[in-house]
Amino acid sequence: MLSRTARTLLVFSSILILAAVCYLPIRLNSPAARALDDGTARTPPMGWNSWNHFGCDVTEQLIKHTADAMVASGMRDAGYQYVVIDDCWQVSRDSQGAIVADPQRFPSGMAALGDYIHARGLKFGLYTDAGYRTCMGRPGSLGHEWQDAATYAAWGVDYLKVDWCAAEGLDAATQYALFRDALAATGRPIVLSICTWGEQNPWDWGRGTGHLWRTTRDIADRWPVVLQIIRENVVRAYAGGPGGWNDPDMLEIGNGHMTDAEYRSHFSLWAMMAAPLFAGNDLTRMSDATRDILLNPEVIAVDQDRRGTPALIVYDDGGRQVWSRPLENPNARAVALFNPTDLP
Ligand code: GLA
Repeated sequence: MLSRTARTLLVFSSILILAAVCYLPIRLNSPAARALDDGTARTPPMGWNSWNHFGCDVTEQLIKHTADAMVASGMRDAGYQYVVIDDCWQVSRDSQGAIVADPQRFPSGMAALGDYIHARGLKFGLYTDAGYRTCMGRPGSLGHEWQDAATYAAWGVDYLKVDWCAAEGLDAATQYALFRDALAATGRPIVLSICTWGEQNPWDWGRGTGHLWRTTRDIADRWPVVLQIIRENVVRAYAGGPGGWNDPDMLEIGNGHMTDAEYRSHFSLWAMMAAPLFAGNDLTRMSDATRDILLNPEVIAVDQDRRGTPALIVYDDGGRQVWSRPLENPNARAVALFNPTDLP
């Protein structure tokens, strides 16, 4: 049995930017439709999301400590911006139909939490669902899209992830357009994250509706799942670009069930794919190895390159892949060598 470290080898431990040395004949992107022209998400959004590590165990304390850790660890200054509370912050609707945050877990209320986050130079993200309930059974936004958008804007929300549970029979392009229009009507720039897990082909209509769209089922902190997601996401490269991004799901780096080599490959290939980078670990207890991966400035620079063209696999003989993406500098290109097999 080979060591897990041997499984994945990125020859350029970070991604090497080569000055025009290897021109490869690849098809460049031409995104089909215009992106939402509101100035947000011109590069893939970066931040932190509670779900992968904490699931439903979200509290005001956790979010405050996480925001503090984003500043203290250097993540904010490296580009991580959004602090996103995923499922389970909401418990009910009041007599007017307004969404109610869990008063035990968020005793100061969402507007105060938004202020806390903003005071640290960060941005505030929340989660809802396009159906009648969220994936964890909390109230969804179906029929309340405009009311909820107004509530979020009043709380200072900057980013909204909209999930797709309890949405059977609904047309995703229609439902997400409701959120787009309701958010635009608030006058507050709010990034719209479409989360149908690839259902109803969001790469066909996501651009012009939202700023990112999940392309696959949920990630897990296991290498085979990461490999499967990479295979399914990279073939959508043509759809991503400034203002609208393929989303292969949030990061598992630092959650403990993969090797550091696997986490490095996860991060580097997310960067090559111009994926949104949402850390999904406990930032208050981060190892040096995890921090080094999440804060690698060269890899982040590739992800955030302003040209926004996702990589294609330009060579693949089964065991050896060459990934390549053109960069804003017309004489530069990011190249990754990737071994997805168990062999050295
Ligand atoms: C779905 C989403 C996840 C997460 C959970 C929350 O599974 O794909 O990212 O938001 O719901 O319940």
